[in-house]
Amino acid sequence: MPSPERLDESVHSFGFLPDGYPPDEPVSRRDFLRGGLTGAAALVAGLGGPHAPESVAAQLSGRQPTDVKGVGVEPGRVRLAFNENPLGASPAAIEAVLRHQDWMNRYDYTTTLQNAIIRHHGLDIPRPSGFDFKATGERHGLMLGVGTTELLQILALQALMKHGEVVEAFPSYGQVTRVGDELRDAGHGVQSQRSPVLPDGNHDLEDMGKRIGESTGLVIICNPHNPTGALLPHDRILDFIDRVPPHVLVAIDEVYVHFVRDPEYRDFIEVAKERENVIVLRTFSKVYGLGGIRVGYAIAHRDVIYRLAPFSMGLLGRNVLSVHAAAAALGDDEHVKRSLQAVWEGNDYLTAELERLGARVVPSHACFLWADFGRETQRIVRSLWSRRVMVRAGAGQWASPNHIRVSTGSREENEAFIRALERTLG
Ligand SMILES: Cc1ncc(COP(=O)(O)O)c(C=O)c1O
Repeated sequence: MPSPERLDESVHSFGFLPDGYPPDEPVSRRDFLRGGLTGAAALVAGLGGPHAPESVAAQLSGRQPTDVKGVGVEPGRVRLAFNENPLGASPAAIEAVLRHQDWMNRYDYTTTLQNAIIRHHGLDIPRPSGFDFKATGERHGLMLGVGTTELLQILALQALMKHGEVVEAFPSYGQVTRVGDELRDAGHGVQSQRSPVLPDGNHDLEDMGKRIGESTGLVIICNPHNPTGALLPHDRILDFIDRVPPHVLVAIDEVYVHFVRDPEYRDFIEVAKERENVIVLRTFSKVYGLGGIRVGYAIAHRDVIYRLAPFSMGLLGRNVLSVHAAAAALGDDEHVKRSLQAVWEGNDYLTAELERLGARVVPSHACFLWADFGRETQRIVRSLWSRRVMVRAGAGQWASPNHIRVSTGSREENEAFIRALERTLG
């Protein structure tokens, strides 16, 4: 558990301040019923035929065209703080949940999701078992997690317990270094090494390499990076992997990889299939729009998966609705295409507007932007909050007091953010 101080720090780093942003209220019973009934109607009307994605998302969220209303958030709130998919979940995933809604009394023993991932990435894993949370073949291995966050937690625990040290960029998502800090604070002899990112927002691979020693068990590279959105070329990372000692596992966090704008970019799935010290992490939380239902996966050599397995929540971390939603989302190319289009258009708009307002913006390969305002942003973020626009301040967790990280929203959300920012800046 995070210490109260650390919780407090992370709360402040969101800019969660007491001035005027009321906590989320539960959806009213009437709204819930309305959502459920329109969802059921969509199911009845749509089964066996293609869904119009807008109609599913709009019906489930009750969106009025005249409102600034994000999918999955109360009307009148603009939530651009958590890198969520502004279009909502894949309609195929919603349909899969509705199809399986009366399975909720059952534990999940299907192989649906493992098989979908195995097919999607061409893994050589002939017989996954429904009674396992991992699947292995002669060489390839796959592990499911409660979001990528559980997999990062597992990676950190295994490396720290066996070796004692982990290396991660700073600022970053930070789950790995956080686990190291918690254990160190609790008196365990372990250490998190933080490698400062370069001014262009990229990992400093040279510095990371220098931090690797005999006690290092894990180096994590997030590409595209969070919170900067910067992208390292494939070959630079491969060259780094070639030089890392064999006892060090290199984890490539690819939760934002779909949003990469360079068509020539190659991800690291094939590398993880070939090498014995590389693991790739993926999530259903971002482009597939399933952040709230918590599914991630890791691909690596099967021996790596075996080493990590004891730290996992295991089979009962699997959720009977999530697995079907995730499997359906993986095949929903149309939703992926629409999401990329929306995010790329949003990034172009937001970059141009933020630069017009005086900020410097890192070219983003992700679903958010990292903007340097050249002055402290905590007050700007508070003021945006009081205008019901939620973005993240760079202070606190990321120690970047002049920055704001804004997630890419729908066009209406992006415009509402820029309007509120203009008013805030005067
Ligand atoms: C870089 C990075 N890695 C991992 C995660 C965890 O994602 P999840 O646990 O939803 O799969 C996030 C979430 O925002 C992230 O930004």
